[in-house]
Amino acid sequence: MSERYFAAKSKDMNTRRKFLRQTLLGSLAVGNAGRLFDQLDINAPNVKNAFPVVISTWGPNIKANAAAWQVLSSGGYALDAIETGIHVPEANPEDTSVGYGGYPDRDGHVTLDACIMNEKGMAGCVTFLEHIMHPISVARKVMENTPHVIMSGDGALQFALDQGFKKENLLTKEAKKAWDLWKIEAKYEPVINVERHDTIGMLAMDMQQRLCGGCSTSGLAFKMHGRVGDSPVIGAGLFVDNEVGAAVCTGLGEMVLRTVGSFLVVEEMRRGKSPQKAVEIAIKRIVKKYPEQSKDAQVAFIALDRKGRHGAYSIHPGFNYVLYQDGENRIIESTSLLDK
Ligand code: GLY
Repeated sequence: MSERYFAAKSKDMNTRRKFLRQTLLGSLAVGNAGRLFDQLDINAPNVKNAFPVVISTWGPNIKANAAAWQVLSSGGYALDAIETGIHVPEANPEDTSVGYGGYPDRDGHVTLDACIMNEKGMAGCVTFLEHIMHPISVARKVMENTPHVIMSGDGALQFALDQGFKKENLLTKEAKKAWDLWKIEAKYEPVINVERHDTIGMLAMDMQQRLCGGCSTSGLAFKMHGRVGDSPVIGAGLFVDNEVGAAVCTGLGEMVLRTVGSFLVVEEMRRGKSPQKAVEIAIKRIVKKYPEQSKDAQVAFIALDRKGRHGAYSIHPGFNYVLYQDGENRIIESTSLLDK
């Protein structure tokens, strides 16, 4: 389906929402109307079982979502589901923006960022990590086996090796070829929705209503050596609060870092906004702050609340996500703020 179709669909939904809001505002005291409107959210689960549930950024992560669901549907822990699910793109050489097969930085190094957060508000992150296939698992070890939250670079690698991880070459022939081609012009230019995948961000709630999240990425292709994006930064790329909900992000990390995007989404849910409304507020904040940069850069959020309601929104069309809920794993096109 075309981008034009999704833009039209988005407009249609906005008109419907506007009508509902006006109807509510007309018949109710203004103070309560906003809250009641949020309860009529378009993404409210019309399903028998709102949880367990798992949601991931980008359609190609449908297999990752299915792997996470296997853990959840057998009564497993949401954190195990996140780790199991994220292993899928991390080990996939065809995914050029996560783990093995990820495009290198401008100096030819594949450097990885990841983080994980559990229902107790504990977090672990690795930044600028090389040679380890599963940075999400190293992030979990940081959370569980150290008093720290973030480990970086050589220190993170040394820690991973001490924890029993294997040192591997993550630069595939294909990624090296892409790097060799890039070097001809060496033009640094973020591109919207390259191949319709990017960071994997995943949120899961298990049968015991424990909410956990994680994300993993090789970051921007051909980035400056040493660059770290939003994905391993708690509050920016990911935030989980079991009392409220969780959010995770994909896209140009710099714009998310400056606006602490995922934290903003969760705080808006804490203030009573639905997950959909909350992600829309975060995207609008980014575009308002950085109108010029937003013309050529994509950012998208997905969010999940304790009721199992979800939200998804991006700056530009082209973002999609995967939702596994009530036994069905579906790729869903996100609505977006701009129509191209
Ligand atoms: N969102 C991934 C990055 O900017 O590195």
